Amino acid sequence: MAFPPSFIDELTARNPIEDVVSLYVALTRRGSNLFGLCPFHNEKTASFSVAPDKGIYYCFGCHKGGGVINFIMEVENLEYPDAVRFLAKRVGMEVPEDNEYRAAYKKQERLRSLCKDAARYFHEQLNAPIGAPGRAYIVKRGLSRSTVTRFGLGFAPDGWSNLLDTMTKKGYTKDELVDAGLALKNQKGNVYDRFRNRLMFPIIDVRGNVIGFGGRVLDDSKPKYLNSSETAIFNKRKNLFALNITKKSTQGRIIVTEGYLDAIALHQYGFDCAVATLGTALTEEQAQLLAKYTDQVVLTYDSDEAGQNATRRAIPILERAGLQIKILRMQGAKDPDEFLKKFGADKFRVLMDRSENREEYQLLSVQKKFDLSQDAQRVNFLKEAAELISTFPSAVAREIYGARVAEIAKVSAETVKLEIDKAYRRRKAVERKKKEKAALDVVGQMQPKERSLHYERPASAAAEELLLAQILKDPTHLEGLGLLPQQFSSPLLGRAYSLLLHEQEQGRPIGLSGLSGEFTQEEMSHLTAVCKRNDALVSEAVIRDCVGKIRDEYQKTLCSGEEALLSRQAQLRAKKGYGG
Ligand code: UTP
Ligand code: MN
Repeated sequence: MAFPPSFIDELTARNPIEDVVSLYVALTRRGSNLFGLCPFHNEKTASFSVAPDKGIYYCFGCHKGGGVINFIMEVENLEYPDAVRFLAKRVGMEVPEDNEYRAAYKKQERLRSLCKDAARYFHEQLNAPIGAPGRAYIVKRGLSRSTVTRFGLGFAPDGWSNLLDTMTKKGYTKDELVDAGLALKNQKGNVYDRFRNRLMFPIIDVRGNVIGFGGRVLDDSKPKYLNSSETAIFNKRKNLFALNITKKSTQGRIIVTEGYLDAIALHQYGFDCAVATLGTALTEEQAQLLAKYTDQVVLTYDSDEAGQNATRRAIPILERAGLQIKILRMQGAKDPDEFLKKFGADKFRVLMDRSENREEYQLLSVQKKFDLSQDAQRVNFLKEAAELISTFPSAVAREIYGARVAEIAKVSAETVKLEIDKAYRRRKAVERKKKEKAALDVVGQMQPKERSLHYERPASAAAEELLLAQILKDPTHLEGLGLLPQQFSSPLLGRAYSLLLHEQEQGRPIGLSGLSGEFTQEEMSHLTAVCKRNDALVSEAVIRDCVGKIRDEYQKTLCSGEEALLSRQAQLRAKKGYGG
């Protein structure tokens, strides 16, 4: 999406970063910068900074950074063009929409309307004569009428073109059905329905749009569940099933399940705060989405090994999003759906009240690995438990769970405490060493967090970073540098430099915040980090040194390139027997 640069410049000028950030974060001034608690990760001391003069924000904790548009993209979970529109609306600016965008937007609108019509069609089939198998399955699964209505459940009849025929009659094209993930195209180019003879679960985003579907077989055939493919409007990583309903809940927490029918059963039994992941492990995006609607998440994954592994992996992700986590250990049933049917809502509530916090959950998981009636296993249990407890950040938690372990293993609390202290000291020593090593590893520190942005030539990259940061501090440095973007060793820094040159030529204000549309969030974060760590004022001489260094390093690559060419030619000659 390309908005006119002049529009973006006015937009960023009229949305000062400190004003916009202040809507989400309480900021206090410290020198020329403002500081607050980072909205993107959980923290107790303010490491989130805003530099009004440069129009950028940067978090020293989670290393996210960028201009005002990036901030809105991140905090409102929007794509670049929508973040631009969001900010334009805030200050009453009209957005010049280009044709490319209009076309893309129109297409998405078509897909949204197609998905909605498809959902209506599937739902209607459930009441039609053709829907008998679907109705029978719904009865079998104990789903009530109002549940079926509330979730808009439906039925995809058996056959290759039921949906296709109905939707093309409504004026949608076959390609649109393919693009919506509802139909498939075979090698001959024939298009056919993706969902056949399945119970259909519409997936609805928080704004109320149908964006995709899950479909379950009615028997034991495979695959049990099919989901619509990723489309221009459906991203599995960024959505959760039933969040559109759950977001209105007043129960003060969100229950996260693995399956559509687990979430649905919970709603039917009165827990109107259940969501399901969409057949993938919980993602960072989903955790951040959850954090917008609640402070506390209850994980109720299946009791099998896969479910427990998924639980273990989800915990740090949810923690990073600042969520308080409870883990519900299912007993006597494999998942919430089965549990509710067997034991009812009251028993589930008891389980929920008893759900464990992270510490308890992890400790119990360790305990379960050992047979504590055997001395040798008790010793190992103690070791492993002490190791785990030593990772708990709070001293109180270490003491309390230490005492609990002592009780479980039938040894004295002092013994356990000694073990924990030992493990704790060992851990701290390792951490300290790591930190010392990292502090000495200047090159390592400089490397971008994102792998794809790795610096091939750190010596040159250091000069490029410093130069770029100084230009952003004082754009007059740009004049008469005589350095070409292709002389930069880092493609990212070279691209940034080239864009700044361009801004200068066009007489635009020079800065990072106007370039949000040119870079990914990761790239913007890295560029902001570059500015932050090269912020100290340097002399003209240092700038000249940087330019010299970049040129020298570039020259070296040219030479080594030439050398390589010569030696390759020599090898080739030798091989062909021409002699040297
Ligand atoms: P489960 O196999 O645990 O299903 O898959 P379930 O929720 O207990 O379903 P029922 O009760 O047998 O109907 C959990 C989730 O994993 C995804 C689906 O999102 C499902 O809800 N899944 C499962 C797939 O995507 N494909 C499959 O073939 C199976
Ligand atoms: Mn189930």
